[in-house]
Amino acid sequence: MLKDSVSIQIIGSDITALDHQSSIISSLVDNEVSVRLIDENSSAITLSQANSPDILIFLLESANVPTLDYLSSLPKSIRPALLVITSINDPKLMRLAMQAGARDFFVEPVDDSELQRALVKLVSDCQYIGDGTPGILTTVINAKGGSGGSVIACNLAHVAAVTSDANVLLIDMDLQFGTQSLLLDLRPAHTIVEALDDVNQLDFAAIDGYMSKHISELRLLSMLDEHIVLPGEISVESLNKLLMLTLNNYDRVFIDLPRLIDPVSASILDKSEQILIIVQQNLANMRDAKRLIKILKAEFNVNEQDILVVVNRYNENSGLDLKNIESTLEISNVTAIPNDYERVAAATNLGKPLFEYARHAEITHSLIELAMRLGVNVSDDFKKRGFFKSLFGSRNSK
Ligand SMILES: Nc1ncnc2c1ncn2[C@@H]1O[C@H](COP(=O)(O)OP(=O)(O)O)[C@@H](O)[C@H]1O
Ligand SMILES: [Mg+2]
Repeated sequence: MLKDSVSIQIIGSDITALDHQSSIISSLVDNEVSVRLIDENSSAITLSQANSPDILIFLLESANVPTLDYLSSLPKSIRPALLVITSINDPKLMRLAMQAGARDFFVEPVDDSELQRALVKLVSDCQYIGDGTPGILTTVINAKGGSGGSVIACNLAHVAAVTSDANVLLIDMDLQFGTQSLLLDLRPAHTIVEALDDVNQLDFAAIDGYMSKHISELRLLSMLDEHIVLPGEISVESLNKLLMLTLNNYDRVFIDLPRLIDPVSASILDKSEQILIIVQQNLANMRDAKRLIKILKAEFNVNEQDILVVVNRYNENSGLDLKNIESTLEISNVTAIPNDYERVAAATNLGKPLFEYARHAEITHSLIELAMRLGVNVSDDFKKRGFFKSLFGSRNSK
């Protein structure tokens, strides 16, 4: 469905800045532009069905940061498409803005032609009447190569796609040795590099065309085997735009991020609502996981509650149990995925996710439970039945 007119409102706490932006923005687009002064002392502006603009341009400053929380709390029916302009260059603010559904984030000085391009794209997106809730970004990173980060990212995204009605995207950020297209037996028609090159032209409707589509409806964005991306080839700015665009189009975005701290992974980690660190039960993994957690907390200001340590190939009889791991890593969110060499190897060779290959195996159940822990709305049919329920269920089942 297409809307006839798209309205723009600029909000901010400084009347001079509001007037200034209003005259710039009116000169860049043909749409109706209104301004609204928000009170520094109250975090909320009242938006209702009747007065909510289609596009909200928020002049963000330290004093009005709480308004972002208010915007995040709005019901999706009245949540406008948000564009943030600020003079504060703080990655944490950018994350908050994305959680409030920001489609674009500009740090001053703003280039008029870039702002115009972003606005024209937003106006065209707003002509479609869609759902305004931003998706959740979950990054899966291994503490050491071989811990199982890729297997878990793949199967988690697949489980989320098949057991819930969420639209799910998996992005393989292992740009040199990525395995996701093999794990899902997909041959990408487009690569993540193409999507990044074209990101300024892509809108709401076009982005999905860059994804490979799995039979489960899971979308995958990855590289081709024969291509290799060299460090520094990916622009962080394009990646940020791609993340915003995808989070506004998919309910859940999972990223397989190989362990490497560079500007690209820093930018992803910084915007992730959930970070899963995949470890195995040995001291070398513990040492690296400890270091990674320290970096996340100290350098990226990640809150401890946003980190979940997943002990992969867990063996209860090992001297290092979950309690030991919790105390070694000084982290309270720790969970386990069992070891299942045969099924994982066979499913990998066939290019089938575990849910497809071994739907009732313990490892598959633990992945469903992990998805639930991450807030995936798993339908009751796929939840493991309790002991009594399964007793009764088995009596009735054929
Ligand atoms: N839970 C598991 N049980 C058995 N084998 C596993 C399990 N998880 C991963 N593997 C195997 O471990 C190896 C490394 O997994 P991978 O996901 O590629 O690790 P990473 O991405 O962390 O380097 C693969 O051969 C994979 O099949
Ligand atoms: Mg990997």
